[in-house]
Amino acid sequence: MPAIAIVGAQWGDEGKGKATDLLGGRVDYVVKPNGGNNAGHTVVVNGEKFELKLLPAGILSPNAVPVIGNGVVINLEALFQEIDGLEARGHSCANLKISANAHLVAPYHQTMDKVTERFLGKRAIGTTGRGIGPTYMDKVARLGIRVQDVFDESILRQKIEGALRQKNELLVKLYNRRAVTVDEIVEYFLSYADRLKPMVVDSVNLLNDALDEGKVVLMEGGQATYLDVDHGTYPFVTSSNPTAGGASVGAGIGPTRFSRTIGIVKAYTTRVGSGPFPTELFDEMGEQLRTTGGEFGVNTGRPRRTGWYDAVMAHYAARINGFTDYFLTKLDVLTGIEKIPVCVAYDVDGVRHDRMPMTQTEFHHAKPIFEYFDGWTEDISGARTLEDLPENAQKYVQALEEMSGCRISAIGVGPGRDQVVQVHDLIED
Ligand code: GDP
Ligand code: IMO
Ligand code: MG
Repeated sequence: MPAIAIVGAQWGDEGKGKATDLLGGRVDYVVKPNGGNNAGHTVVVNGEKFELKLLPAGILSPNAVPVIGNGVVINLEALFQEIDGLEARGHSCANLKISANAHLVAPYHQTMDKVTERFLGKRAIGTTGRGIGPTYMDKVARLGIRVQDVFDESILRQKIEGALRQKNELLVKLYNRRAVTVDEIVEYFLSYADRLKPMVVDSVNLLNDALDEGKVVLMEGGQATYLDVDHGTYPFVTSSNPTAGGASVGAGIGPTRFSRTIGIVKAYTTRVGSGPFPTELFDEMGEQLRTTGGEFGVNTGRPRRTGWYDAVMAHYAARINGFTDYFLTKLDVLTGIEKIPVCVAYDVDGVRHDRMPMTQTEFHHAKPIFEYFDGWTEDISGARTLEDLPENAQKYVQALEEMSGCRISAIGVGPGRDQVVQVHDLIED
C-alpha cells in the first residue's frame, strides 16, 4: 500500500497541517520527515484550535501512529513541552515514535542561530531562531548529536567534546559569547533520556514493515518547496529539503513506494522572513489578505508577507516534487475581491519569462505579469463540491489548474477539518 507525501508548494504555511488532519483518520502512520520546531501548523478540529510545531499534525488523529523521522532535528525541551500541552488538553501522545537517527538541537545551536543572524546584518535570513540551521550544519559537518547518542553517555560526551571544540572558538572569538562546558550539555541531554527512551525506534523498519503489511503511511513535510536548501530561493531558505525527495530521505521510504505526492498551495501567496517575492503586495490589498487570511506566524508571531498566486512558481514546484495533486487552500479568503490577479509570467529586465528564471539575480528582478480573473461575493465556506462554488470561483480554480502543472484535487474553503471541496479522493483516486 502507498506512501503519500504532503509537501508545501510555496514558502510555507499553505495549510499542510489541515491537509494532514483531513487525511489523518484514513492513514495508519503520519511521519514528519524534515525540519523541527521552526514549523507551525494550525489545525481546527470541531472548532477547537491546535498549534503544532515539532509534532506532526497527525498526532491529532487517534488512529494514526505519529512518527518523527530521521530527517528531523529535535529540540527535546520543545518536544516535551508540546507533548505536555497536548496531553493537558486530553490528547494522548503515548503512540509517538521517534527515529534513533534524528539529530538533536543543542542549546548552542540556538545561540549560533541568533548570533549568525545578527552577524549577517541587513542580509539576515529572518530565521525562526530555533537553531535549525546550525543543527543541520553540524549534521552535514558530521559533528551532530543524534537521538541514539543520549543512551550512551561516553559516546555522547565524546561527540559533544568534538562539537564544542570548534563551537567555543566561534562563540568566544568571533561572536563574543561565553564558552559552553561539555558537562552542561551532557547534563542537558541526559536529563531527557529516561522520558525519551521508550519512544525511540528504528523508524525505517517500522515504516517499511507497515507498508509491507498494506498500511498507509503519510509524510507530512514541514516548510515548503521554496524554502528547500536546494530548490528554494537560496540563501533565503531553511536548511533541510522540504520537497518530496527530502520526504523520501527523511522518512527512509524509497521513492518507488510513493503512490502520490500532494502539493499544498494557497490561493494566494505568503512568506515569513527575508528573500525575494515577486507578487508581494505592499498596499491595502496586502493588508486585507493578511487580516482576512489570519496571516500571522504561529511560530514567531510575525506578520506574514502577502501577495497574489504565482503560477510560475506553482508549475515549477509541481516538477520538483512530481506532484500528482494540488490541494488548493484558503480560496475563501479571496471572496469579495473584484478582480483577482494571477502571476502567469515574469518580466525580467524587459524580457518575458514564462518559466522560472535560472538565476537568483533574475528572480530578484522578476516583475509579475498578471492575468486578471473575475471574483465572487458569495460566502463559499459551506461549499463541499465544485458545483457548490460560484461560477467565477470555479473558473479561477480551473485556470489555476491549467497553469500549475497538476490537477487540483481538493479546495479549502475555511479552516475547519470539514471545510473542503473534494474533487478527487486524495488517497484512492
Ligand atoms: P502549515 O504550516 O502549512 O500547516 O500552515 P499554517 O497552519 O501555518 O497556516 C495555515 C493557516 O490557514 C492556519 O491558520 C489554518 O487553520 C488556516 N487554513 C487552512 N486551510 C484553510 C482554508 O481553506 N481557509 C481558511 N480560511 N483558512 C485555512
Ligand atoms: P511551516 O511548516 C514559513 C522560514 C523562516 C526563514 C527561513 C529560515 O509552518 O510551513 P529557519 O528557522 O528554518 O532556519 O528559517 O525559513 N521558515 C518558515 N516559513 N513556514 C514555516 O514552516 C517555516 N519554517 C521556516 O521564516 O525565512
Ligand atoms: Mg505554518
